[in-house]
Amino acid sequence: NWTMSAYRSKMIEKIRAQVGTGRVICGLSGGVDSSVAAVLIHEAVGDQLTCIYVDHGLMRLNESEQVVTMFRDQYNIPLVHVDASEVFLRELDGQSDPETKRKIIGRLFIETFEAEAKKLGGANFLAQGTLYPDVIESVSFTGGPSVTIKSHHNVGGLPERMNMQLVEPLRELFKDEVRVLGRELGLPESFIGRHPFPGPGLAIRCPGGITPEKLDILRQADAIYLDEIRKSGQYDKIWQAFAVLLPVQTVGVMGDGRTYEFVCALRAVTSVDGMTADFYQFDMNFLGKTATRIINEVRGINRVVYDVTSKPPGTIEWE
Ligand code: XMP
Repeated sequence: NWTMSAYRSKMIEKIRAQVGTGRVICGLSGGVDSSVAAVLIHEAVGDQLTCIYVDHGLMRLNESEQVVTMFRDQYNIPLVHVDASEVFLRELDGQSDPETKRKIIGRLFIETFEAEAKKLGGANFLAQGTLYPDVIESVSFTGGPSVTIKSHHNVGGLPERMNMQLVEPLRELFKDEVRVLGRELGLPESFIGRHPFPGPGLAIRCPGGITPEKLDILRQADAIYLDEIRKSGQYDKIWQAFAVLLPVQTVGVMGDGRTYEFVCALRAVTSVDGMTADFYQFDMNFLGKTATRIINEVRGINRVVYDVTSKPPGTIEWE
């Protein structure tokens, strides 16, 4: 795509002009936007960029390793991997209110990021994967609804607090253009087409209280579900698909024994922008097969249900 390659060169010049010999810090989330921004900035200013990956212990199976390996080994981008899972899980212990959980995660994320940035000796610039729709949304929100449905998790407020200037090379782009740019930069296809994943991670897919054991059960179920979706060629037709571990145990029978284990809910939706969504119409055989695999392979789950709620009235995530 020649237009995107021209955009790439133009942005590289622009980043160099803005940053000069300054230092840039970029928070990686594992998502497409921050990844593309990081690779582009690295191409522009090389090791003047350091990425910080705050691992809150709420990522999916093997996800943190994949992100760290890709950036460190494949792209040679200086990357600090902060394993903060203990702190996050400790502070989330016993918390079951969705907004309280979100706020704890948002606060800890900022505190952890800030502390790591200080350890690096600070920086003049903070890189963010802000997209054009984010720019418009923050403007139009002024006249928007006054009810907060969910407090979203981001690093807003950090640049002022830390006295840093923003570097936002994706500000003129829509999501599909970011994907084109990502391909242009050589990011793997499996990474570029990934479903969105919320900042608070698996914490909001474990309604109620969180424990390491529950997170582990959820990770396994979620991995099997996504594996089946990929194998059946449906991944790219779906906006987002994930498992939710319900805080409910039900009675089941396995072999000659009684079981009393958790219920797992499966969610999949189609959407254009996440603002509205329809539940995805799986074939019943697919759901049956996936449920059987989850129950057979994951200890701790003995029942699987499928969520047939669209948005509105449901939200995509359960919390
Ligand atoms: P809801 O559940 O509000 O989700 O229908 C809409 C989209 O936003 C994602 N989501 C988040 N993304 N931080 C994020 O970065 C968050 O706190 C957050 N909460 C929800 C959700 O996964 C869906 O794509």
